[in-house]
Amino acid sequence: MKKTMSIKDFSSEELRFQAVWSSCRIPPRLVGASFETYKPTCSEQERALEKCRVFAANGLANISQGKGLFFQGSVGTGKSLLSVSTLRTIVASNIDRFGRPASENGFVGEPVYDGFYCSMVSVVDLLGTLRESFGVEQLRAPAYRLLHRVRSDAVVIMDDIGAEKPSEWVEEQLYALIDLRYRMQRSTIFTTNCSMKKLEGQIGSRSVSRIMEMCEGVKVSGEDWRKRGARG
Ligand SMILES: Nc1ncnc2c1ncn2[C@@H]1O[C@H](COP(=O)(O)OP(=O)(O)O)[C@@H](O)[C@H]1O
Ligand SMILES: [Mg+2]
Repeated sequence: MKKTMSIKDFSSEELRFQAVWSSCRIPPRLVGASFETYKPTCSEQERALEKCRVFAANGLANISQGKGLFFQGSVGTGKSLLSVSTLRTIVASNIDRFGRPASENGFVGEPVYDGFYCSMVSVVDLLGTLRESFGVEQLRAPAYRLLHRVRSDAVVIMDDIGAEKPSEWVEEQLYALIDLRYRMQRSTIFTTNCSMKKLEGQIGSRSVSRIMEMCEGVKVSGEDWRKRGARG
């Protein structure tokens, strides 16, 4: 007789991992990312993967000291994939220390776990969400909830920093956020396509200086993986 899967077939750790991971705002394209899915195509990518593995192996100590990673490299080299894989490994190997907040809907019976909260945000999206919420009553609460997670979560992946159109307002918003996380020693993982000089021009030297102190740099070069399929 064919056996149907029931909730009892999953261990409590697996259930907790799924509950926690689904609260981290990882986009569907990257939600399955893991070190096993990253295939280094050059020696720099091998070194990048190794750095991430070492960082993840000391994940809890790194988080408690507010340490993060700063992925820098050209488009499509797997920076976002590596950032999510690193977070997944840290969460999965210390699942009893990670939690998920109650969702805004507050469904009855929904699992809520105490522990470190984590989230991923595209910096361009975050700034767009904040901008769109000005003067629009219905958008203010969701924008504030997102900002609250990005300010206070124990680990945050700020994806593609420096891709936003620069302005004084952008520089100020990012500085306020990065400086808060810096002062509170909250672990932050950044990815960027920008050189250091370009990033300073995009987000300002005060933010870049804090990022440098908070993070270990991981250079990721290589060909654009996204173009492989198109080339056949
Ligand atoms: N070395 C790699 N091994 C496997 N998949 C990769 C690799 N590099 C990139 N990818 C895939 O290519 C796409 C782009 O990767 P992504 O991490 O978003 O790049 P980046 O953030 O550097 O622009 C994703 O679908 C990702 O899964
Ligand atoms: Mg990316």
